[in-house]
Amino acid sequence: MKKCPFTMENGSPVVDDNNSITAGERGALTFDNLHLFEKLAHFNRERIPERPMHARGTGAYGTFTLNKDLSDITAAKFLQGTGKKTKVFVRFSTVGGGQDSNDNVRDIRGFAVRFYTEEGNFDLVGNNTPVFFLRDPVNFPDLAHAVKKDPRTNVPDGRRALQFWSRLPQAFHQLTILMSDRGIPHSYRYMHGFGSHTFGLYNDSGELVWVKFHLKSNQGIKNLTDEEAAKLPVFHAQKDLVDAIDRGEYPIWQVSLQIMTQKEAETYKVNPFDLTKVWSHKDFPLINVGTLELNKNVDNYFMEVEQSALNPGNFVYGVCASPDKMLQARLFAYADAQRYRLGANYNQLSVNRPICPVHNYQRDGLMADFRNDEQRAEMSGIHFYPNAESHQLEVSKKAPPALNITGQNRIYNTEADDNFSQAGDLFRLLTQDKKEELVTNLANALQDADVKTKELILQYAYEADKAYGDMLTSKFAL
Ligand code: HEM
Repeated sequence: MKKCPFTMENGSPVVDDNNSITAGERGALTFDNLHLFEKLAHFNRERIPERPMHARGTGAYGTFTLNKDLSDITAAKFLQGTGKKTKVFVRFSTVGGGQDSNDNVRDIRGFAVRFYTEEGNFDLVGNNTPVFFLRDPVNFPDLAHAVKKDPRTNVPDGRRALQFWSRLPQAFHQLTILMSDRGIPHSYRYMHGFGSHTFGLYNDSGELVWVKFHLKSNQGIKNLTDEEAAKLPVFHAQKDLVDAIDRGEYPIWQVSLQIMTQKEAETYKVNPFDLTKVWSHKDFPLINVGTLELNKNVDNYFMEVEQSALNPGNFVYGVCASPDKMLQARLFAYADAQRYRLGANYNQLSVNRPICPVHNYQRDGLMADFRNDEQRAEMSGIHFYPNAESHQLEVSKKAPPALNITGQNRIYNTEADDNFSQAGDLFRLLTQDKKEELVTNLANALQDADVKTKELILQYAYEADKAYGDMLTSKFAL
Protein backbone atom coordinates (compact mmCIF):
# COMPACT_ATOMS: atom_id res chain seq x y z
CA MET A 1 0.00 0.00 0.00
CA LYS A 2 1.24 3.50 -0.85
CA LYS A 3 2.78 5.30 2.16
CA CYS A 4 0.98 8.51 3.17
CA PRO A 5 2.70 11.54 4.65
CA PHE A 6 2.09 12.01 8.41
CA THR A 7 0.51 15.44 8.81
CA MET A 8 -1.08 17.70 11.37
CA GLU A 9 -4.78 18.54 11.04
CA ASN A 10 -3.87 21.55 8.85
CA GLY A 11 -2.02 19.28 6.45
CA SER A 12 1.52 20.34 7.35
CA PRO A 13 4.11 17.59 7.88
CA VAL A 14 4.80 16.03 11.29
CA VAL A 15 8.55 15.87 11.79
CA ASP A 16 8.75 13.65 14.88
CA ASP A 17 6.00 11.69 16.67
CA ASN A 18 8.28 10.24 19.36
CA ASN A 19 10.20 13.22 20.71
CA SER A 20 8.88 16.61 21.83
CA ILE A 21 10.67 19.96 21.58
CA THR A 22 12.40 21.02 24.80
CA ALA A 23 14.44 24.07 25.82
CA GLY A 24 17.77 22.34 25.94
CA GLU A 25 18.27 18.59 26.28
CA ARG A 26 16.91 18.45 29.86
CA GLY A 27 14.72 21.56 29.79
CA ALA A 28 10.94 22.18 29.79
CA LEU A 29 8.60 21.94 26.80
CA THR A 30 8.24 25.04 24.64
CA PHE A 31 5.11 26.49 23.03
CA ASP A 32 6.17 25.52 19.53
CA ASN A 33 5.21 21.88 20.27
CA LEU A 34 2.26 22.32 17.92
CA HIS A 35 1.89 18.67 17.04
CA LEU A 36 2.04 17.56 20.68
CA PHE A 37 -0.53 20.16 21.77
CA GLU A 38 -2.89 19.30 18.93
CA LYS A 39 -2.54 15.58 19.70
CA LEU A 40 -3.25 16.03 23.42
CA ALA A 41 -6.15 18.41 22.78
CA HIS A 42 -7.81 16.12 20.27
CA PHE A 43 -7.41 13.16 22.60
CA ASN A 44 -9.23 15.14 25.31
CA ARG A 45 -12.20 15.42 22.98
CA GLU A 46 -12.49 11.81 21.81
CA ARG A 47 -15.50 10.97 23.99
CA ILE A 48 -19.03 12.15 23.39
CA PRO A 49 -22.02 11.51 25.66
CA GLU A 50 -23.21 7.93 25.37
CA ARG A 51 -26.87 7.28 24.59
CA PRO A 52 -28.92 7.60 27.80
CA MET A 53 -30.37 4.14 27.05
CA HIS A 54 -29.18 1.50 24.55
CA ALA A 55 -25.62 2.81 24.95
CA ARG A 56 -23.93 -0.46 24.03
CA GLY A 57 -24.50 -1.77 20.53
CA THR A 58 -23.30 -2.50 17.05
CA GLY A 59 -24.54 -1.82 13.55
CA ALA A 60 -24.34 -2.84 9.90
CA TYR A 61 -25.77 -1.91 6.50
CA GLY A 62 -27.97 -4.04 4.30
CA THR A 63 -30.93 -4.23 1.98
CA PHE A 64 -34.68 -4.38 2.42
CA THR A 65 -36.39 -6.16 -0.48
CA LEU A 66 -40.13 -5.75 -0.85
CA ASN A 67 -41.88 -9.04 -1.67
CA LYS A 68 -45.43 -7.69 -1.67
CA ASP A 69 -46.61 -4.50 -3.28
CA LEU A 70 -48.45 -2.38 -0.70
CA SER A 71 -49.54 0.49 -2.93
CA ASP A 72 -53.20 -0.15 -2.05
CA ILE A 73 -52.58 0.83 1.59
CA THR A 74 -49.57 3.15 1.51
CA ALA A 75 -48.14 5.91 -0.62
CA ALA A 76 -44.64 5.20 0.75
CA LYS A 77 -42.43 4.52 -2.28
CA PHE A 78 -40.26 1.94 -0.51
CA LEU A 79 -43.38 -0.19 0.04
CA GLN A 80 -44.45 -0.10 -3.61
CA GLY A 81 -43.45 -2.46 -6.43
CA THR A 82 -42.56 -6.08 -5.78
CA GLY A 83 -38.80 -6.53 -5.79
CA LYS A 84 -38.10 -2.91 -4.79
CA LYS A 85 -34.80 -2.64 -2.88
CA THR A 86 -34.00 -0.06 -0.21
CA LYS A 87 -30.69 0.43 1.57
CA VAL A 88 -30.89 0.00 5.34
CA PHE A 89 -28.75 0.56 8.41
CA VAL A 90 -29.50 -1.48 11.54
CA ARG A 91 -28.21 -0.86 15.04
CA PHE A 92 -28.63 -3.56 17.68
CA SER A 93 -28.13 -2.85 21.34
CA THR A 94 -28.68 -3.86 24.91
CA VAL A 95 -30.82 -1.41 26.85
CA GLY A 96 -29.80 -0.83 30.44
CA GLY A 97 -26.01 -1.13 30.43
CA GLY A 98 -23.56 1.64 29.60
CA GLN A 99 -20.88 1.27 26.95
CA ASP A 100 -18.77 -0.42 29.61
CA SER A 101 -21.29 -3.24 30.18
CA ASN A 102 -21.63 -6.81 28.88
CA ASP A 103 -23.36 -8.07 25.71
CA ASN A 104 -24.68 -11.21 27.38
CA VAL A 105 -27.10 -9.82 29.92
CA ARG A 106 -30.74 -10.60 30.66
CA ASP A 107 -32.19 -7.48 29.08
CA ILE A 108 -34.30 -6.33 26.18
CA ARG A 109 -32.37 -5.88 22.92
CA GLY A 110 -32.77 -2.86 20.66
CA PHE A 111 -33.43 -3.56 16.98
CA ALA A 112 -33.37 -0.20 15.19
CA VAL A 113 -33.75 -0.12 11.42
CA ARG A 114 -33.19 2.89 9.16
CA PHE A 115 -34.65 2.70 5.65
CA TYR A 116 -32.83 5.15 3.33
CA THR A 117 -35.82 5.63 1.01
CA GLU A 118 -35.85 7.89 -2.05
CA GLU A 119 -38.24 10.15 -0.12
CA GLY A 120 -36.24 10.41 3.08
CA ASN A 121 -35.27 8.28 6.06
CA PHE A 122 -37.86 6.12 7.77
CA ASP A 123 -36.57 4.77 11.10
CA LEU A 124 -38.24 1.82 12.80
CA VAL A 125 -36.61 2.04 16.22
CA GLY A 126 -37.84 -1.19 17.77
CA ASN A 127 -36.86 -3.90 20.19
CA ASN A 128 -36.71 -7.71 20.20
CA THR A 129 -40.02 -7.86 22.06
CA PRO A 130 -43.50 -6.86 20.85
CA VAL A 131 -44.43 -5.04 24.08
CA PHE A 132 -42.80 -2.76 26.64
CA PHE A 133 -42.80 -2.25 30.43
CA LEU A 134 -44.73 0.99 30.25
CA ARG A 135 -47.76 2.50 28.63
CA ASP A 136 -47.10 6.08 29.71
CA PRO A 137 -43.87 7.92 28.86
CA VAL A 138 -43.83 9.81 32.14
CA ASN A 139 -42.42 6.61 33.72
CA PHE A 140 -39.56 6.28 31.22
CA PRO A 141 -36.76 8.24 32.95
CA ASP A 142 -37.55 6.30 36.16
CA LEU A 143 -37.28 3.02 34.26
CA ALA A 144 -33.87 4.11 33.03
CA HIS A 145 -32.77 5.07 36.55
CA ALA A 146 -34.08 1.80 38.00
CA VAL A 147 -32.14 -0.42 35.56
CA LYS A 148 -28.93 1.60 35.67
CA LYS A 149 -26.25 1.78 38.34
CA ASP A 150 -26.87 2.82 41.95
CA PRO A 151 -26.13 6.59 42.01
CA ARG A 152 -24.13 6.27 45.25
CA THR A 153 -22.08 3.13 44.66
CA ASN A 154 -22.00 3.19 40.82
CA VAL A 155 -22.68 -0.55 40.95
CA PRO A 156 -25.56 -2.26 39.08
CA ASP A 157 -28.20 -3.64 41.45
CA GLY A 158 -30.89 -5.90 39.97
CA ARG A 159 -33.15 -5.43 42.99
CA ARG A 160 -33.90 -1.85 42.05
CA ALA A 161 -35.47 -2.70 38.68
CA LEU A 162 -37.65 -5.38 40.26
CA GLN A 163 -38.77 -2.94 42.92
CA PHE A 164 -39.80 -0.51 40.17
CA TRP A 165 -41.52 -3.09 37.93
CA SER A 166 -43.42 -4.58 40.87
CA ARG A 167 -45.00 -1.17 41.54
CA LEU A 168 -46.18 -0.90 37.92
CA PRO A 169 -48.41 -3.89 37.16
CA GLN A 170 -48.46 -2.99 33.47
CA ALA A 171 -44.78 -4.08 33.38
CA PHE A 172 -45.66 -7.72 34.15
CA HIS A 173 -46.20 -8.82 30.52
CA GLN A 174 -42.77 -7.53 29.49
CA LEU A 175 -41.23 -8.90 32.70
CA THR A 176 -42.60 -12.35 31.82
CA ILE A 177 -40.87 -12.17 28.41
CA LEU A 178 -37.66 -10.90 30.00
CA MET A 179 -37.54 -13.78 32.48
CA SER A 180 -38.43 -16.39 29.83
CA ASP A 181 -35.86 -18.29 27.74
CA ARG A 182 -35.88 -15.31 25.33
CA GLY A 183 -34.46 -12.99 28.01
CA ILE A 184 -30.87 -13.54 26.84
CA PRO A 185 -30.64 -13.91 23.03
CA HIS A 186 -27.55 -15.88 21.94
CA SER A 187 -26.58 -12.90 19.75
CA TYR A 188 -28.26 -10.33 17.55
CA ARG A 189 -28.65 -12.66 14.55
CA TYR A 190 -30.79 -15.12 16.50
CA MET A 191 -33.65 -12.93 17.67
CA HIS A 192 -36.78 -11.44 16.16
CA GLY A 193 -37.43 -7.70 15.92
CA PHE A 194 -40.61 -5.72 16.45
CA GLY A 195 -41.64 -2.16 15.70
CA SER A 196 -43.66 -2.73 18.90
CA HIS A 197 -45.84 0.38 18.58
CA THR A 198 -48.81 0.69 16.29
CA PHE A 199 -48.03 2.79 13.21
CA GLY A 200 -50.23 4.20 10.47
CA LEU A 201 -49.95 3.50 6.74
CA TYR A 202 -51.95 5.73 4.40
CA ASN A 203 -52.44 6.04 0.68
CA ASP A 204 -52.87 9.05 -1.61
CA SER A 205 -56.63 8.99 -1.04
CA GLY A 206 -56.04 9.59 2.67
CA GLU A 207 -57.22 6.09 3.70
CA LEU A 208 -55.36 5.00 6.80
CA VAL A 209 -54.81 1.57 8.38
CA TRP A 210 -53.01 0.71 11.61
CA VAL A 211 -50.08 -1.72 11.39
CA LYS A 212 -47.52 -3.48 13.54
CA PHE A 213 -44.10 -4.39 12.08
CA HIS A 214 -42.52 -7.80 12.78
CA LEU A 215 -39.06 -9.04 11.76
CA LYS A 216 -38.62 -12.81 12.04
CA SER A 217 -35.08 -14.17 12.10
CA ASN A 218 -34.29 -16.65 9.28
CA GLN A 219 -31.44 -17.88 11.49
CA GLY A 220 -34.03 -19.03 14.02
CA ILE A 221 -34.20 -18.21 17.70
CA LYS A 222 -31.23 -19.16 19.89
CA ASN A 223 -31.03 -18.16 23.53
CA LEU A 224 -28.61 -18.45 26.41
CA THR A 225 -29.22 -19.58 29.97
CA ASP A 226 -27.75 -17.41 32.72
CA GLU A 227 -24.97 -19.99 33.16
CA GLU A 228 -24.11 -20.10 29.44
CA ALA A 229 -24.17 -16.30 29.23
CA ALA A 230 -21.77 -15.94 32.15
CA LYS A 231 -19.11 -17.96 30.29
CA LEU A 232 -19.06 -15.85 27.12
CA PRO A 233 -16.70 -12.96 26.34
CA VAL A 234 -18.27 -9.56 26.99
CA PHE A 235 -18.14 -8.59 23.27
CA HIS A 236 -19.70 -11.88 22.11
CA ALA A 237 -22.81 -10.50 20.39
CA GLN A 238 -21.03 -7.64 18.64
CA LYS A 239 -18.26 -9.92 17.38
CA ASP A 240 -20.76 -12.55 16.27
CA LEU A 241 -22.49 -10.07 13.94
CA VAL A 242 -19.36 -8.49 12.49
CA ASP A 243 -17.66 -11.88 11.96
CA ALA A 244 -20.73 -13.42 10.28
CA ILE A 245 -20.96 -10.51 7.81
CA ASP A 246 -17.19 -10.62 7.17
CA ARG A 247 -17.56 -14.36 6.37
CA GLY A 248 -20.37 -13.60 3.91
CA GLU A 249 -22.97 -15.27 6.13
CA TYR A 250 -25.50 -12.48 5.80
CA PRO A 251 -28.25 -12.58 8.41
CA ILE A 252 -31.81 -12.25 7.11
CA TRP A 253 -35.15 -11.36 8.68
CA GLN A 254 -38.62 -11.80 7.18
CA VAL A 255 -40.53 -8.54 7.50
CA SER A 256 -44.27 -8.91 8.15
CA LEU A 257 -47.19 -6.68 9.01
CA GLN A 258 -50.32 -7.05 11.08
CA ILE A 259 -52.97 -4.76 9.65
CA MET A 260 -56.02 -3.36 11.49
CA THR A 261 -58.60 -1.03 9.98
CA GLN A 262 -59.65 2.09 11.87
CA LYS A 263 -63.12 0.56 12.26
CA GLU A 264 -61.65 -2.62 13.83
CA ALA A 265 -59.53 -0.47 16.15
CA GLU A 266 -62.66 1.16 17.59
CA THR A 267 -64.00 -2.12 18.92
CA TYR A 268 -60.92 -4.35 19.38
CA LYS A 269 -60.77 -6.10 22.75
CA VAL A 270 -57.62 -4.24 23.78
CA ASN A 271 -56.60 -0.64 23.21
CA PRO A 272 -54.57 -1.01 19.99
CA PHE A 273 -52.36 1.91 21.06
CA ASP A 274 -51.33 0.37 24.40
CA LEU A 275 -47.69 -0.69 24.16
CA THR A 276 -48.06 -3.29 26.92
CA LYS A 277 -50.40 -5.33 24.67
CA VAL A 278 -50.03 -7.43 21.54
CA TRP A 279 -52.60 -7.95 18.81
CA SER A 280 -53.48 -11.63 18.65
CA HIS A 281 -52.05 -13.27 15.53
CA LYS A 282 -55.33 -15.16 15.18
CA ASP A 283 -57.24 -11.89 14.95
CA PHE A 284 -54.62 -10.15 12.80
CA PRO A 285 -52.41 -12.69 10.99
CA LEU A 286 -48.88 -11.82 9.93
CA ILE A 287 -48.59 -10.81 6.28
CA ASN A 288 -45.11 -11.24 4.89
CA VAL A 289 -44.07 -8.16 2.90
CA GLY A 290 -40.30 -8.40 2.49
CA THR A 291 -36.87 -9.46 3.64
CA LEU A 292 -34.16 -7.55 5.40
CA GLU A 293 -30.56 -8.70 4.86
CA LEU A 294 -27.45 -7.30 6.52
CA ASN A 295 -24.50 -7.54 4.16
CA LYS A 296 -21.98 -4.78 4.87
CA ASN A 297 -20.03 -3.94 7.99
CA VAL A 298 -19.22 -0.35 8.79
CA ASP A 299 -15.74 1.02 8.01
CA ASN A 300 -15.50 3.00 11.23
CA TYR A 301 -17.47 2.19 14.37
CA PHE A 302 -17.45 5.65 15.88
CA MET A 303 -18.38 7.51 12.71
CA GLU A 304 -21.12 5.18 11.58
CA VAL A 305 -22.50 3.42 14.65
CA GLU A 306 -21.80 5.73 17.57
CA GLN A 307 -22.82 8.80 15.57
CA SER A 308 -25.88 7.16 14.06
CA ALA A 309 -29.02 8.92 15.20
CA LEU A 310 -32.08 6.74 14.66
CA ASN A 311 -35.26 8.54 15.50
CA PRO A 312 -38.86 7.26 15.77
CA GLY A 313 -39.87 10.72 14.51
CA ASN A 314 -38.27 10.05 11.11
CA PHE A 315 -41.23 9.19 8.88
CA VAL A 316 -41.73 9.31 5.13
CA TYR A 317 -44.91 10.17 3.25
CA GLY A 318 -47.21 7.13 3.55
CA VAL A 319 -46.19 6.15 7.11
CA CYS A 320 -47.19 7.97 10.30
CA ALA A 321 -47.34 7.69 14.08
CA SER A 322 -50.35 6.31 15.94
CA PRO A 323 -51.68 7.96 19.10
CA ASP A 324 -49.71 5.48 21.27
CA LYS A 325 -48.59 7.78 24.13
CA MET A 326 -45.19 6.12 24.34
CA LEU A 327 -44.54 6.67 20.65
CA GLN A 328 -45.76 10.26 20.90
CA ALA A 329 -43.18 11.03 23.60
CA ARG A 330 -40.48 9.31 21.58
CA LEU A 331 -41.23 11.72 18.73
CA PHE A 332 -39.73 14.40 20.99
CA ALA A 333 -37.10 12.49 22.96
CA TYR A 334 -34.75 11.12 20.32
CA ALA A 335 -33.95 14.22 18.27
CA ASP A 336 -33.53 16.09 21.55
CA ALA A 337 -31.05 13.48 22.81
CA GLN A 338 -29.23 13.53 19.49
CA ARG A 339 -28.84 17.31 19.38
CA TYR A 340 -27.23 17.08 22.81
CA ARG A 341 -25.13 14.01 21.96
CA LEU A 342 -23.99 15.02 18.46
CA GLY A 343 -24.78 18.70 17.93
CA ALA A 344 -27.39 20.51 15.85
CA ASN A 345 -26.11 19.32 12.47
CA TYR A 346 -25.97 15.58 13.16
CA ASN A 347 -28.21 14.86 10.17
CA GLN A 348 -25.40 16.01 7.87
CA LEU A 349 -23.19 13.07 8.94
CA SER A 350 -22.94 10.36 6.30
CA VAL A 351 -24.79 7.66 8.30
CA ASN A 352 -27.65 10.06 9.04
CA ARG A 353 -27.90 11.96 5.75
CA PRO A 354 -30.92 10.95 3.64
CA ILE A 355 -30.19 9.80 0.08
CA CYS A 356 -32.67 12.36 -1.26
CA PRO A 357 -31.80 16.08 -1.35
CA VAL A 358 -32.54 18.07 1.82
CA HIS A 359 -33.73 21.66 1.39
CA ASN A 360 -34.88 24.02 4.11
CA TYR A 361 -33.99 27.33 5.72
CA GLN A 362 -32.29 25.93 8.81
CA ARG A 363 -28.72 27.16 8.83
CA ASP A 364 -25.40 27.42 10.65
CA GLY A 365 -24.77 25.90 14.07
CA LEU A 366 -21.86 23.79 15.25
CA MET A 367 -20.17 21.86 12.44
CA ALA A 368 -22.49 22.93 9.61
CA ASP A 369 -21.13 21.34 6.43
CA PHE A 370 -23.47 20.49 3.60
CA ARG A 371 -20.99 20.73 0.73
CA ASN A 372 -21.92 17.23 -0.34
CA ASP A 373 -25.47 18.31 -1.04
CA GLU A 374 -25.09 20.29 -4.26
CA GLN A 375 -28.58 21.72 -4.52
CA ARG A 376 -28.66 22.79 -0.89
CA ALA A 377 -25.34 24.55 -1.28
CA GLU A 378 -26.68 26.37 -4.36
CA MET A 379 -29.42 28.06 -2.35
CA SER A 380 -27.28 28.76 0.70
CA GLY A 381 -27.50 32.52 0.09
CA ILE A 382 -31.15 32.79 1.11
CA HIS A 383 -32.28 31.84 4.59
CA PHE A 384 -35.81 33.01 5.17
CA TYR A 385 -39.29 32.06 4.00
CA PRO A 386 -41.37 33.32 2.30
CA ASN A 387 -39.05 35.12 -0.09
CA ALA A 388 -39.12 36.54 -3.61
CA GLU A 389 -36.36 34.40 -5.05
CA SER A 390 -37.05 32.26 -8.06
CA HIS A 391 -35.77 29.23 -6.20
CA GLN A 392 -38.08 29.66 -3.17
CA LEU A 393 -38.76 26.19 -1.84
CA GLU A 394 -42.15 24.69 -2.49
CA VAL A 395 -44.01 23.08 0.40
CA SER A 396 -45.57 19.70 -0.31
CA LYS A 397 -49.23 19.37 -1.22
CA LYS A 398 -49.14 15.84 0.21
CA ALA A 399 -49.93 15.57 3.92
CA PRO A 400 -50.88 12.72 6.26
CA PRO A 401 -54.64 12.24 6.70
CA ALA A 402 -56.42 14.00 9.55
CA LEU A 403 -57.32 11.88 12.59
CA ASN A 404 -60.66 12.11 14.35
CA ILE A 405 -60.34 12.88 18.06
CA THR A 406 -62.90 12.31 20.81
CA GLY A 407 -62.90 12.82 24.60
CA GLN A 408 -61.61 15.47 26.96
CA ASN A 409 -58.15 16.92 27.32
CA ARG A 410 -57.22 15.53 30.76
CA ILE A 411 -55.19 12.88 32.59
CA TYR A 412 -56.53 9.38 31.86
CA ASN A 413 -55.64 7.00 34.69
CA THR A 414 -55.07 3.49 33.30
CA GLU A 415 -54.43 1.79 36.66
CA ALA A 416 -57.53 -0.35 36.36
CA ASP A 417 -56.67 -1.70 32.88
CA ASP A 418 -56.20 -5.45 32.42
CA ASN A 419 -52.46 -5.95 32.90
CA PHE A 420 -52.37 -9.72 33.23
CA SER A 421 -54.49 -11.57 30.63
CA GLN A 422 -51.82 -11.39 27.95
CA ALA A 423 -49.04 -12.43 30.36
CA GLY A 424 -51.28 -15.41 31.15
CA ASP A 425 -51.82 -16.15 27.43
CA LEU A 426 -48.06 -16.15 26.93
CA PHE A 427 -47.49 -18.41 29.96
CA ARG A 428 -50.05 -20.93 28.64
CA LEU A 429 -48.32 -20.97 25.23
CA LEU A 430 -45.02 -22.13 26.75
CA THR A 431 -44.06 -25.80 26.98
CA GLN A 432 -43.67 -27.19 30.50
CA ASP A 433 -39.85 -26.89 30.20
CA LYS A 434 -40.07 -23.26 29.21
CA LYS A 435 -42.57 -22.52 31.99
CA GLU A 436 -40.08 -24.06 34.40
CA GLU A 437 -37.25 -21.94 32.98
CA LEU A 438 -39.33 -18.75 33.22
CA VAL A 439 -40.36 -19.35 36.81
CA THR A 440 -36.84 -20.36 37.88
CA ASN A 441 -35.35 -17.21 36.30
CA LEU A 442 -38.00 -15.04 37.96
CA ALA A 443 -37.51 -16.68 41.36
CA ASN A 444 -33.72 -16.31 41.05
CA ALA A 445 -34.06 -12.66 40.13
CA LEU A 446 -36.35 -12.11 43.13
CA GLN A 447 -34.10 -13.96 45.55
CA ASP A 448 -32.71 -10.83 47.20
CA ALA A 449 -35.79 -8.66 46.68
CA ASP A 450 -37.71 -7.13 49.59
CA VAL A 451 -40.84 -8.91 50.81
CA LYS A 452 -43.30 -6.43 49.31
CA THR A 453 -41.70 -6.75 45.85
CA LYS A 454 -41.94 -10.55 46.07
CA GLU A 455 -45.56 -10.38 47.21
CA LEU A 456 -46.57 -8.06 44.39
CA ILE A 457 -44.89 -10.14 41.66
CA LEU A 458 -46.43 -13.30 43.06
CA GLN A 459 -49.84 -11.65 43.08
CA TYR A 460 -49.39 -10.67 39.42
CA ALA A 461 -48.33 -14.21 38.49
CA TYR A 462 -51.55 -15.54 40.09
CA GLU A 463 -53.58 -12.92 38.24
CA ALA A 464 -52.00 -14.05 34.97
CA ASP A 465 -52.54 -17.79 35.54
CA LYS A 466 -53.03 -19.88 38.69
CA ALA A 467 -50.38 -22.37 37.54
CA TYR A 468 -47.90 -19.48 37.04
CA GLY A 469 -48.53 -18.38 40.64
CA ASP A 470 -48.36 -21.93 42.04
CA MET A 471 -45.06 -22.62 40.27
CA LEU A 472 -43.55 -19.38 41.54
CA THR A 473 -44.76 -20.12 45.08
CA SER A 474 -43.08 -23.53 44.95
CA LYS A 475 -39.77 -21.91 43.93
CA PHE A 476 -39.97 -19.45 46.82
CA ALA A 477 -40.56 -22.33 49.19
CA LEU A 478 -37.27 -23.96 48.18
C1 HEM B 1 -41.23 7.11 26.34
C2 HEM B 1 -40.49 6.10 26.02
C3 HEM B 1 -39.08 6.19 25.53
C4 HEM B 1 -38.19 7.22 25.59
C5 HEM B 1 -38.38 8.60 26.18
C6 HEM B 1 -36.97 6.75 24.96
C7 HEM B 1 -35.81 7.48 24.83
C8 HEM B 1 -34.66 7.05 24.22
C9 HEM B 1 -33.50 7.85 24.01
C10 HEM B 1 -33.35 9.30 24.46
C11 HEM B 1 -32.59 7.10 23.35
C12 HEM B 1 -31.21 7.53 22.89
C13 HEM B 1 -31.30 8.08 21.50
C14 HEM B 1 -29.97 8.56 20.99
O1 HEM B 1 -29.21 9.16 21.76
O2 HEM B 1 -29.69 8.35 19.78
C15 HEM B 1 -33.19 5.82 23.11
C16 HEM B 1 -32.61 4.81 22.41
C17 HEM B 1 -33.30 3.71 21.94
N1 HEM B 1 -34.59 3.36 22.25
FE1 HEM B 1 -35.86 4.39 23.39
N2 HEM B 1 -37.15 5.46 24.54
C18 HEM B 1 -38.43 5.08 24.85
C19 HEM B 1 -39.03 3.88 24.60
C20 HEM B 1 -38.54 2.95 23.72
C21 HEM B 1 -39.29 1.85 23.18
C22 HEM B 1 -40.74 1.55 23.52
C23 HEM B 1 -38.46 1.19 22.33
C24 HEM B 1 -38.73 0.01 21.46
C25 HEM B 1 -39.93 -0.39 21.10
C26 HEM B 1 -37.19 1.87 22.34
C27 HEM B 1 -36.10 1.52 21.59
C28 HEM B 1 -34.91 2.21 21.56
C29 HEM B 1 -33.76 1.79 20.78
C30 HEM B 1 -33.67 0.55 19.89
C31 HEM B 1 -32.76 2.74 21.01
C32 HEM B 1 -31.36 2.73 20.43
C33 HEM B 1 -31.40 3.33 19.04
C34 HEM B 1 -30.05 3.18 18.38
O3 HEM B 1 -29.66 2.03 18.16
O4 HEM B 1 -29.38 4.19 18.17
N3 HEM B 1 -37.26 2.94 23.19
N4 HEM B 1 -34.45 5.81 23.66
